[in-house]
Amino acid sequence: MKVLVTGGAGYIGSHTVVQLIDAGHQPVILDDFRNSEKSVIFRIEEIVGKEITYYNTDIGDTPELKKVIESEKPEGIIHFAADKAVGESVENPLKYYKNNIVNLINLLDVIKGYDIKSFVFSSSCTVYGTPDNIPVNEKAPMKRATSPYGYTKAAGERILTDFFKNKETNLCLLRYFNPVGAHPSGLIGELPVGIPNNLIPYVVQVAAGIRKELTVHGGDYETPDGTCIRDYIHVMDLADSHVKSLEYSVENREDLLLNIGTGNGSSVLEIINEFEKVNDIKIKYKIGPRREGDVTKIFADNSLIVKKLGWQPKYSLADSLRDSWNWQKKLKL
Ligand code: UD1
Repeated sequence: MKVLVTGGAGYIGSHTVVQLIDAGHQPVILDDFRNSEKSVIFRIEEIVGKEITYYNTDIGDTPELKKVIESEKPEGIIHFAADKAVGESVENPLKYYKNNIVNLINLLDVIKGYDIKSFVFSSSCTVYGTPDNIPVNEKAPMKRATSPYGYTKAAGERILTDFFKNKETNLCLLRYFNPVGAHPSGLIGELPVGIPNNLIPYVVQVAAGIRKELTVHGGDYETPDGTCIRDYIHVMDLADSHVKSLEYSVENREDLLLNIGTGNGSSVLEIINEFEKVNDIKIKYKIGPRREGDVTKIFADNSLIVKKLGWQPKYSLADSLRDSWNWQKKLKL
């Protein structure tokens, strides 16, 4: 299948492009490299041993986007192109509403009239807010978003559901838990932009000596060790879930709404300990105050994707933390 991958040079996008090629599909990347680098394309090519088709195009540039859709006529679309920093979205909400919502609407406007068999959307477990039951399944109610970023994910799901109602295209809404890790080759991974907000990028920068110490955001939560619990999923497993969702939705002509997580929760201190053990390196940290908006504990009930798609996480937490560190070490060279 020919698949347009918006944001295909980004963290999750680049890994998904690799997996699409491995599964025999033909990805076409659309990315303007605002949050990534051109070298990602060459690195993907090195991994897969093939040339990649890509367009250096801003997804908000409607005339250019039209040209790409017209010349490529993709059968599937995986839409990653969006901003994802929670804190920045609070500071600059219009940037998020424009890049994540207006650009999504423009994309839908442009693809109207084309025969798109499946559309896959990057959503987030943030739509559950603080869930009443853990592990959380897809039937859990969506809660009021605590940040503009979170709201763009909830709104994106709704816009897509309304748009594709009574259309031939099947819609896959994938709610990611916490993506971590990197390609085992160390050639692609999450590119750091400024001071990391997310836990693993911060931990690897402390390990690399770029940051002095990690601040654990809160040690007085109602969890066994007092720190927050999340479901950390290897980006390769996450990428694989996109390929499987795309294929399943086309073969079975079915819409999908799926949690993408491992089903295991780890606390911040468990992550630090495991990182130290796996990589044989000490992480300096201190316990600081709670971070506003953090949920105490969340991890996925992933039984739906396991049952429907036969998807299983193949990488352990140790693999994730080893691959994240391997990627950071190569970045320094
Ligand atoms: C957040 C978003 C999620 C988004 C994801 C990726 C929410 C509720 N969650 O996830 O939607 O998809 O980012 O951008 O909006 N921590 C520290 N010290 C640090 C950094 C983090 O202790 O320096 C802790 C946090 O308090 C949290 C855990 O590590 O308990 C994970 O944090 P983070 O990696 O930022 O991800 P989330 O907040 O879970």
